[in-house]
Amino acid sequence: MSLKKQTEHAIFSQNRGDCINAVAQIMEMRATGAAPLAYVTTYGCQQNVADSEKIKGQLEEMGFSFTQDPDLADLILYNTCAIRENAESKVFGKIGELKHKKSKKPSLITAMCGCMAEQDHVVERVKKSYPYLDLVFGTHIIHYLPQLLFTFLTNGKRIFENGSEDEDKQIIEDLPIKRDSGQVGAWLTIMYGCNHFCSYCIVPYVRGRERSREPEAIEQEFRQLVEAGYKEITLLGQNVNAYGKTLKNPITFSDLLRRLDRVEGDYRIRFMSPHPKDATPELFETMAQSEHIAHSLHLPLQAGNNRVLKAMRRNYTREQFLELVEQARAHMPDITFTTDLIVGFPGETYEEFLETVDMLQKVKFNSLFTFIYSPRAGTKAAVMEDHVPAQEKSRWFQELWKEQEAIVAQTSPAMVGTVQRVLVQGYNDKKTMLMGKTEGNMNCEFIGDDSLIGTFVHVKITESPNFALKGTVLNEPINDITGGY
Ligand code: 5AD
Ligand code: SF4
Repeated sequence: MSLKKQTEHAIFSQNRGDCINAVAQIMEMRATGAAPLAYVTTYGCQQNVADSEKIKGQLEEMGFSFTQDPDLADLILYNTCAIRENAESKVFGKIGELKHKKSKKPSLITAMCGCMAEQDHVVERVKKSYPYLDLVFGTHIIHYLPQLLFTFLTNGKRIFENGSEDEDKQIIEDLPIKRDSGQVGAWLTIMYGCNHFCSYCIVPYVRGRERSREPEAIEQEFRQLVEAGYKEITLLGQNVNAYGKTLKNPITFSDLLRRLDRVEGDYRIRFMSPHPKDATPELFETMAQSEHIAHSLHLPLQAGNNRVLKAMRRNYTREQFLELVEQARAHMPDITFTTDLIVGFPGETYEEFLETVDMLQKVKFNSLFTFIYSPRAGTKAAVMEDHVPAQEKSRWFQELWKEQEAIVAQTSPAMVGTVQRVLVQGYNDKKTMLMGKTEGNMNCEFIGDDSLIGTFVHVKITESPNFALKGTVLNEPINDITGGY
């Protein structure tokens, strides 16, 4: 047995309940305030947000309360993202700040988890250069948090763990989830991992292969959310269209959607993200016929040129992508699209980049999530030749946005006069108006009082500067909802 296996065994074989109780007792004695306080920060995507809710749920079981002030905390934990270099740099900056905090409060427990903790080069760097980071654990073993904390608290040695291959395949149900209070929407993970290995992407390396949760478990959690009053439930997975393939009794993502849609209640379903390669007419039909699924799709395009798409290993062409958009619009004329785009993939030429710009005109996305390519160690693209200087890529990036802004200026006036069904989420940043989201996932602001928060209202759009919609709430129920970009 290797040393790693022995350590794993020692940590992971401890009884979970015993560890929870023991950590609670130890922390009660060590806490600087009335209850031990945890400060948890999440970087990256919604999958990480959902993981942090499970981490917080477990911390709560161990007696922790939560603080927004790291200086008051007895435990600081960063749940990290590895998708691009700047996401990692941000985290390293934050970890660096822990040195000072730990010297001021030696009893402070410092921890890092998430996608960065799954990468060997990150772990090596932490071991060498950040000796004040106590606990580093990967994405597959967040359910061992009580055992990890107990082990650290009792032997005081730094812990670096990312589990064994078996853990990578497991799905752990019934972890406590602490959702932030006052939320109108909730995240629901339906599957983990990704099998695609797009050449630029680190996700399959840090989150493992596709695993789907059983539909019964998903439906149970879904029903609890509806009963608890959540109005927008977003189903999460790296590639939701592949849902169900790994189940003992395989079902499709559309089967799951239809099953959830049958749950009675006043709520809306969203999901992210479907891979265009696996999007099917069945999915669009299901969305169109459903009672609760919002008519909006986040469909990551990544690039508009076929050679680049092939080098990215995306498995679709620009023509196929456009066909999908057309099919979806044929089923749902009011559907809206958002997308992810990468600028400056290795070897991409300016002419090839212009084909991405051209796709904006062709599809007319509602909004974009745009990224400059960032090499990730271990991926296929990281070793491809990259001849375009960073400055040039930034210029392309700005050009992309200029085009998008021009498209929005062309299309957004059509929103004025339409009536939108809006889920009221709270106040805008300035606290002057209420804000919510349309079916098409656009922000919309209007005057109204607190009682509307968490309800669906109909808003007549009066202004649409740059897609930041403004309107007035209609008091009468409306049967015909018009327009909707
Ligand atoms: N560089 C830049 N962007 C990336 N993305 C994934 N990997 C990289 C990378 N190496 C983007 C993709 C993906 C989104 C979540 O992040 O657009 O859809
Ligand atoms: Fe970041 Fe991707 Fe991990 Fe999400 S899955 S946290 S985006 S690296």
